[in-house]
Amino acid sequence: MALYSEKVMDHFRNPRNVGVIEDADGVGEVGNEKCGDIMKIYLKIEDGIIEDVKFETFGCASAVASSSMATELIKGKPVAEALELTNKAVAEALDGLPAYKMHCSVLAEEAIKNALEDYYKKHPEAK
Ligand code: FES
Repeated sequence: MALYSEKVMDHFRNPRNVGVIEDADGVGEVGNEKCGDIMKIYLKIEDGIIEDVKFETFGCASAVASSSMATELIKGKPVAEALELTNKAVAEALDGLPAYKMHCSVLAEEAIKNALEDYYKKHPEAK
């Protein structure tokens, strides 16, 4: 069996939503101390909906694929739904990750939660 699913390879080779949102409503950055990989997520939120999301990931193939898939999963969705996104859902949407690569999908979940926390800090009225 191939180590990575076709979806992982696809999202690694052609990552969706790569980039920066200059006037983001929320920015989240997380890192994994062990591997040193870093993920940054930018959110543009209007009326409780994630209108746009971009990411920058300095990390392994699984981390890039996880961030790409995670941004696709929350784009256009209500904030409440994005808050519930789990790393498992990201990994499942990618047709699975090798067990020792699951932590890479955790970065995506954490980066989004982090960005939403930042959003609530900057927009306390949105709570
Ligand atoms: Fe670090 Fe994948 S090895 S995020």
